[in-house]
Amino acid sequence: MSLRAVKGMKDILPDEISRWHRLENAFRTRAERYGFREARFPIVEPTALFVRSIGETTDIVEKEMYTFTDRGEKSLTLRPEGTASSVRAYVQHNVQAKEPVTKWYYLGPMYRRERPAKGRYRQFYQAGIEVFGDPGPYVDAEVIDMVVGFISDLGIDEVEVLINSIGGPDTRARYRDALLEYLGPFRAELCPDCQRRMDANPLRVLDCKVPRCAKIASGAPSMLEHLTDDDREHFDGLQQTLTRLGTPYRVDGSLVRGLDYYTRTLFEVLGKGEGLGAQNALLGGGRYDQMVQSFGGPETPAIGFAMGLERLLMAMPESVPRSHVDVFVVAAQPDVRAEAALLGRELRSAGLRVESDLRGGSLKSQLRRADKLNARIAMILGESEIENGVVQLKDLQQKTQTEVPRNEAAAHAKPLLA
Ligand code: HAM
Repeated sequence: MSLRAVKGMKDILPDEISRWHRLENAFRTRAERYGFREARFPIVEPTALFVRSIGETTDIVEKEMYTFTDRGEKSLTLRPEGTASSVRAYVQHNVQAKEPVTKWYYLGPMYRRERPAKGRYRQFYQAGIEVFGDPGPYVDAEVIDMVVGFISDLGIDEVEVLINSIGGPDTRARYRDALLEYLGPFRAELCPDCQRRMDANPLRVLDCKVPRCAKIASGAPSMLEHLTDDDREHFDGLQQTLTRLGTPYRVDGSLVRGLDYYTRTLFEVLGKGEGLGAQNALLGGGRYDQMVQSFGGPETPAIGFAMGLERLLMAMPESVPRSHVDVFVVAAQPDVRAEAALLGRELRSAGLRVESDLRGGSLKSQLRRADKLNARIAMILGESEIENGVVQLKDLQQKTQTEVPRNEAAAHAKPLLA
C-alpha cells in the first residue's frame, strides 16, 4: 500500500498557495498596522502547559491532544492552540518588565485529534493575536473591530459577531451554584463525561457537543444575569465602544468556549456564507486575565483571538490566479543555453520572475511551455541576437514581437506586467 498523509492532515500544493500567501500577508499587514509584532513559538510544548491552561475537563485535553513521551522521559504535546505558548513565553522571558503593554501575533499549524470533517482538520493553521497588560474594555472592542475589518477586507461579507461575558472568579462562583441547581434534576440524563464534569467543572457541560447535553444546556440560566457590578461595567463598556466604532455585534448569553482559561469577554465570528458548512466559526477569542499569574508571572490582564485559516479560505471569494512567471526565456539554439541562463539572471536581478527550459528542446516546445505557464512575455535569444546585443520580446497575450536592446529588456517588459 502506498503511503498517504495522516488522516485529517492535508498537503497544500503550489496551485493553492497563492491564496494562502494573500491571506497571511493581509493578516500581517493588518496586525502590524495595529502595533502587533510577530512571535514564533515551538510546535511541541510540555504537556502540562496545555493541561493547566486549557483545562483538564475540556475536550481538547481529554480527547484531542497528540501527546507522546520523548524517549521515555518527558511528556510532550503538539500544540493544539497558541495562547498557552504565548503566555509561557511571556512569563519565561519576563516581558512585563520591558513594556507595560505587549502585542504579539502568530501564524502556524495547530494539532487536534478531532473527527475530520469539512472545515475541521487534525492539522490546521491559525493566525492569532494576544495583548498583555491592558485590562480593557476598550482594547477588547478594538481587537474585535480589528478582526471584523480584516474579514470584511478579505471579501467575506456574511458574518455574525457574537459576544458574551462569563465574568471573573466571583461571577463564576455565583453562576456555578445557579448552574448546579439547574443541572441537578438532569444529572442522570447527561452523558458520562458531563456527569463527571458536573463535579469537576460544571461550566464545561455548557460546551458539550452531545445533542442530549446541548439540549439541556440550552435551558440553563444565563451567565449575564449573574455578573458582578465590575464585570457588568466591563461588559457594558465593551458594548458602548463597539457601538461607537460602528462594529455590528450580537450579545449571546449562551456563548461558551471550549477552553477553561477565559474570564469576562468571550467572542466568536461566524461565517454565514454557503461555502463553510457546519464548521462556521471563523475565529474565537476572549479575555484570560488570570493565566499569566497562574504560570508564575505578575498579575497581567490579557485578551486575544485565533482564526482558522482553512475556514477563512473557504469563505473567501475565488479570484483569478495570477501566473507565477513574468518572462519565459527561450534559447533559440541548444548552443546558446549558457547565454540564456545569463539573460535569465539579468532579468531576475531586475526583479522579474523568470522561468526557462534549459533542456535543449525546440523553439516551438519552449514557447508551448511558456504558454502553459501563462507567462505574459517570452524573450527569445539566438546566435544573431547575441551578436547584436538584442532579444526578441514576444508579448504572448497581444501576439506581437519586437526586437529590443538586451540591456533594456527588463525595462520594456515591466510596463506590460503592471
Ligand atoms: P479556538 O476557538 O479553539 O480558540 O480556535 C480558534 C479557531 O481555530 C476556530 O474558530 C476555528 O476557526 C479554528 N479551528 C479550531 N479547531 C480547528 C480544526 N480542528 N480544524 C480547523 N480549524 C479549527 C483558540 O484556539 C484560542 N487559542 C483563541 C484565543 C486566542 N483566545 C485568546 N487568545
